Amino acid sequence: MKQQLQNILHQVTKQAKDVKSLQDIEKLRVKFLGKKGELTGVLRGMGALSKEERPIIGKLANEVRESIETLIKQANEKLLSIEKNIQFKKEKLDVTMPGKTYEIGKKHPLTLVIEEVENVFLGLGYQIAEGPEIELVHYNFEALNIHEGHPARDEQDTFYIQPDVLLRTQTSPVQIRVMENTQPPIKIICPGRVYRSDAVDATHSPVFHQIEGLVVDKGITMGDLRGTLEVFAKSMFGENTNIRFRPHHFPFTEPSAEVDVSCWNCNGEGCKVCKGEGWVEILGAGMVHPKVLRNCGIDPEIYSGFAFGLGVERTAMGRFGIDDLRLLYENDVRFLQQF
Ligand code: PHE
Repeated sequence: MKQQLQNILHQVTKQAKDVKSLQDIEKLRVKFLGKKGELTGVLRGMGALSKEERPIIGKLANEVRESIETLIKQANEKLLSIEKNIQFKKEKLDVTMPGKTYEIGKKHPLTLVIEEVENVFLGLGYQIAEGPEIELVHYNFEALNIHEGHPARDEQDTFYIQPDVLLRTQTSPVQIRVMENTQPPIKIICPGRVYRSDAVDATHSPVFHQIEGLVVDKGITMGDLRGTLEVFAKSMFGENTNIRFRPHHFPFTEPSAEVDVSCWNCNGEGCKVCKGEGWVEILGAGMVHPKVLRNCGIDPEIYSGFAFGLGVERTAMGRFGIDDLRLLYENDVRFLQQF
């Protein structure tokens, strides 16, 4: 029996070295210490021993059991620590590694200019209006006094979706939409995308942006237009900026003007930006034509108004010193990051 016990201990010692998993250890425990285990089997045979032998073998059996328990415990600990190490290696976090940088986008220069203009006019008490880019010929031309066969329709050729539906060539149709629905006083600006059948070059794009302005009230004069545009030009291009009106013709304003600002680059002395002129044209403007007011149900005997249309691309190019309009649409981050 002594031999048997020693044999059991020997086996456990050997097998405990080979365990590969916690299941292996549990199997080992059941095999030797379980109810039907080998040690238990030997102990069951103790009844057959003599009085003298029993305490000796009993003591030995207890020692063997303790040894087995210790072996199993050690194997268990060893396995757990190996597993923990593997886990640690897997989850190792090197806090000295360079972090991931997330590039944060920036506002497009056109958006910046639109927001800047909006802010100036919001400060002057204007509201922001919107109109559809797919527009009726009626609003884009007819109601603006540009009738079939008018040369302005040639200059502003565009994509026709149906004979009476087109991609708007200007933001001026929003003037009509607003005036049809609102009685004066009206003070709005309307930024938006417009379309013309123009070939792409450094100063032209078939898709571009305008900001329309419209004020209608009693007693509005050209002096109000001039004062408003002066405030706008100074806040946009700096306190020293001057503006000048050149006579022009738009079918929906009378009188009409093209408006220049003194060159932001050379302060009017003449440089590359203003092509030696000292002035840069940025918008068209005028007093709303009485016929247009009447078309919208506003009595020109009581009310008068002014309107203007600003080229956003042109303003952005001036504001940021961009010399080719195409850069604004190429989405090259090296360019866009600069603003
Ligand atoms: N819509 C005109 C254009 O695109 C500009 C303009 C707007 C002129 C408002 C006068 C008044 O050329």
